[in-house]
Amino acid sequence: MLENLHLRFFRNYESLDWQPGNGFTVLSGPNGAGKSNLLEGIFYLGAGYPYRQAQDEALVHWGADFFVIRGSVLQNGLRYDLEIAYQLETKHKITRINGKRGLPGACTACLPVVIFSPADLLLIQGAPGLRRRFLDLVVTQSRPQHAADLHDYSGILTQRNNLLRHGVFQRAEMQSWDEQLVAVGARVISRRLSVFKTLMDLSRVVFASLSRNGELDGVYISQTIPPGSTEENEDFYRRAFKDALERRRSLDERLHMTTTGPHRDDLRFFLRGHEAQFYCSQGEQRLIALSLKMAQNRLLSSVQSSDALLLLDDVFSELDTVHREKVFQELSRSRQVIATTTSFLEEGDAATGQLTPEIALFQAKGSEWL
Ligand SMILES: Nc1ncnc2c1ncn2[C@@H]1O[C@H](COP(=O)(O)OP(=O)(O)OP(=O)(O)O)[C@@H](O)[C@H]1O
Ligand SMILES: [Mg+2]
Repeated sequence: MLENLHLRFFRNYESLDWQPGNGFTVLSGPNGAGKSNLLEGIFYLGAGYPYRQAQDEALVHWGADFFVIRGSVLQNGLRYDLEIAYQLETKHKITRINGKRGLPGACTACLPVVIFSPADLLLIQGAPGLRRRFLDLVVTQSRPQHAADLHDYSGILTQRNNLLRHGVFQRAEMQSWDEQLVAVGARVISRRLSVFKTLMDLSRVVFASLSRNGELDGVYISQTIPPGSTEENEDFYRRAFKDALERRRSLDERLHMTTTGPHRDDLRFFLRGHEAQFYCSQGEQRLIALSLKMAQNRLLSSVQSSDALLLLDDVFSELDTVHREKVFQELSRSRQVIATTTSFLEEGDAATGQLTPEIALFQAKGSEWL
């Protein structure tokens, strides 16, 4: 549970100290009040990246040269002080848990977050990197050692690419990077496949409860492993990745970059056997994205002893009444939910009563929430 939040030079906030409620909190304010930015700050602390398409630079308050997000979290009876600080000039990001340096993504286990927002549509329509990032978040939330492997993988990949860019190198030097890349990469692929399978099983069930319009399916797409690989062990992925690197060696040398590996993989979703990105209506795409997020929440509540923090950005306006009720039925069981709306809500409003009997309401007052 998030007990308090401090934002310094983050987006429109110069300095904010805020305590959300224990249960269902609603932030209501006009367009541009800073609702999404506040959720973005919380999500960033739990996930290590912004949920909209923005780069870290865009999160720094205009005119400032750094931002800091701090949060105090109570999880399984223990209190954690989390901090992420970002320097614009050096592009350095520092993550701290209880004052000690941690890897990027280290906070995922202390503050598991699930966000529902209009940007979820990008999971279907957006670039492959957004889907990989989402899957890696779900994997890290359920298996924290994934964060260290992702960090190592990206470091080794940079070194290998540097060598390729250089053009001249010893075979043995390249082989050493290949071996390291393959060892870590196989762990990344194997964890992703196993979590993606569970996620899709759950998404199918959720989708069927939201829509009677066909069956949902999802596939992990990779040039590195044979199509349809699911049950094989890490050793199998290691061999497959090693073979793929060898097959692509001359292409990699010509293009001066590593053209195969988990950093190039993708996810595809299908409804009634047709690829969602190209054949589904906007509403169907939204329901698929929603099912994925609800599945993420179900998966987290099965692996974590306490629930994830749910962030609902503007979903009141995005859904029709039938779906809205179904979604709220499921989500209002969660321990802590923070939602935003542009509607003006007041204590005792019928609209708030429908959500949950206990609700903490905050209204925008300048860049404060009272
Ligand atoms: N780096 C930044 N520095 C300062 N202000 C910023 C920065 N990035 C965005 N803003 C401003 O923050 C304001 C609030 O944006 P936000 O997306 O949080 O609004 P919102 O309350 O969610 O509005 P809506 O109801 O339209 O979704 C916007 O006016 C935006 O221009
Ligand atoms: Mg918004």
